[in-house]
Amino acid sequence: MKTIFSGIQPSGTLTIGNYLGALRHFVDLQNEYNCYFCIVDEHAVTVPQDRLELRKNIRSLAALYLASGIDPDKSTLFIQSEVSAHTQLGWILQCVAYIGELERMTQFKDKSEGKEAVSAGLLTYPPLMASDILLYNTDEVPVGDDQKQHIELTRDLAERFNRKYNDIFTIPEARIPKVGARIMSLQTPTKKMSKSDENQKATIFMLDDPKKIEKKIKSAVTDSVGTIEYDKENRPGISNLLTIYSSFSGESIDAIVEKYAGKGYGDFKQDLAEVVVNALAPIQARYQELIESEELDEVLDLGADKAQAQASKMLRKAKKAMGLGRVRKK
Ligand code: TYM
Repeated sequence: MKTIFSGIQPSGTLTIGNYLGALRHFVDLQNEYNCYFCIVDEHAVTVPQDRLELRKNIRSLAALYLASGIDPDKSTLFIQSEVSAHTQLGWILQCVAYIGELERMTQFKDKSEGKEAVSAGLLTYPPLMASDILLYNTDEVPVGDDQKQHIELTRDLAERFNRKYNDIFTIPEARIPKVGARIMSLQTPTKKMSKSDENQKATIFMLDDPKKIEKKIKSAVTDSVGTIEYDKENRPGISNLLTIYSSFSGESIDAIVEKYAGKGYGDFKQDLAEVVVNALAPIQARYQELIESEELDEVLDLGADKAQAQASKMLRKAKKAMGLGRVRKK
């Protein structure tokens, strides 16, 4: 059976971008793959986090994974900082990575631009992400479009290590969905929808209540043409809304365009709000049951043990290949 690994940062409440680009696909993959899903809290602290807020977000993300359909009997769900092999292999891969290639990462450039105090961790974020992936002999990494560059670097680091030391790492591939790989901001539809957007109207969060969702969709930026048609280049606003509609409803964009021929933005937005609210309602209900439950802790305890057992094997191999520590008989 092939192996899947993916992670999400607990750096705020998940958006429908995270859901449509990544999380919902994880659920389908569980039946065919050996899956590891991670709450990557060590990645979140590459930018300042409030301690109590971070704790809350870690738990909330774990509950959202389960509420969305991650089944702990099929997948291993765990918190990155509870499996120490991640930062340990992360260090080894920092020593394999070049500063130049890390400085060229789009995410690093975006997040550090114009800032005075940028943590070293923000620069060395990709080797830690490579470590997450490479510890589990991962074949495929399901992610949204924005993580493609990081997966390519992971492949480069794995190949470099294999060539230089010993051929131990599986070379992973990115698995990017055809529709929904880049959900855009509702207010600036040329920009990615993001957990950390300062404009609250730009983002639909997975835990937003129906009224909020409706309000945000109704105030989403479109254009003055007025027809419901897909043209990503020239009409990014309505095209993004069509993508969201199609991803949540399962109807093709062509079928939706046909359905709304002759109708205006008002009707379309009203229906879209209903589609989004109905899709999120069962997840939100299950989330409320899980968030304070002991079940959640049990799943995370078991997940950390299972992940640690697997990850420590690969860490041992990597240390041995590099000549770190001693060779022991036992
Ligand atoms: P993060 O936490 O920013 O996002 C989690 C997942 O959601 C996808 N995503 C989107 N998809 C479509 N439209 C959007 N607007 C959108 N915004 C985010 C992301 O592509 C991602 O799949 N570096 C990663 C976390 C990570 C990771 C890993 C992922 C750490 N280690 C190992 C895979 C494997 C990140 O910051 O994702």
